[in-house]
Amino acid sequence: MSRIIIGNWKMNLNLAEATALAHASVAAAEKNPELDVAIAPSLPWLVPLKEELKHVPKNFHLASQVVSQWPEGAYTGDVTAVQLKGLVEYCLVGHSERRRYHHEASEIIAAQIKQLLDVKIIPVVCFGEMSQSPSKHISSQITLDLRRDLQGLTADEVTQCLFAYEPLWAIGTGHPATPEYGATVVTHVKAWFEEKFKQAPFVLYGGSVTEEDAGSLGHERVLDGLLVGGASLSGKRFKLICERF
Ligand code: PGA
Repeated sequence: MSRIIIGNWKMNLNLAEATALAHASVAAAEKNPELDVAIAPSLPWLVPLKEELKHVPKNFHLASQVVSQWPEGAYTGDVTAVQLKGLVEYCLVGHSERRRYHHEASEIIAAQIKQLLDVKIIPVVCFGEMSQSPSKHISSQITLDLRRDLQGLTADEVTQCLFAYEPLWAIGTGHPATPEYGATVVTHVKAWFEEKFKQAPFVLYGGSVTEEDAGSLGHERVLDGLLVGGASLSGKRFKLICERF
């Protein structure tokens, strides 16, 4: 599997803007065939973008920002994994903004992962600490959190997921973790995965990634990719991030 860069557009852009940015993101994928590149637009744009982007390189993918924990039914405003099937290859799960503003707790996250795996959409499971502190301490807190989020999942299910280490203090703050800090935490977390599930999954870094630090993050080979928020809203910046990682 190639390293992957995912643009998380969050709740931004009208359709015309989304279409233009999607084309710029496809161009970034075309220029960097050794990478996988994905974009996660707002839900209503997935269908028109899927139509618009009929001829894209194999390394370009669409992702969803959300999925329901339930298979179907009376859950106003939710979208099922089955409905997303065919539209996206990846879906974010457990993003700190969903945990914070939509109270998505660990049981919900585990259920969402199951829904996605059932239809072979790859969950991108986000995790990260609230505040910065020595990374050994952080890593044990994180593995405790992950243990909760992954409760009830088999080792086989866990190894089908991607993960994104996103320290909360770095998301949207303009203060990314240093590449060394990110790499140290991810190294610890991967060791925990190996011990518990016999295999370490892909782990991306996210949190205020810009074109300025993409190169040094890329040098940390333990990082398998990036989850980019704000900077993915500019085609030019996103392209530079892909080139430099
Ligand atoms: P940011 O967002 O790059 O704007 O910090 C990252 C994320 O929330 O996934």
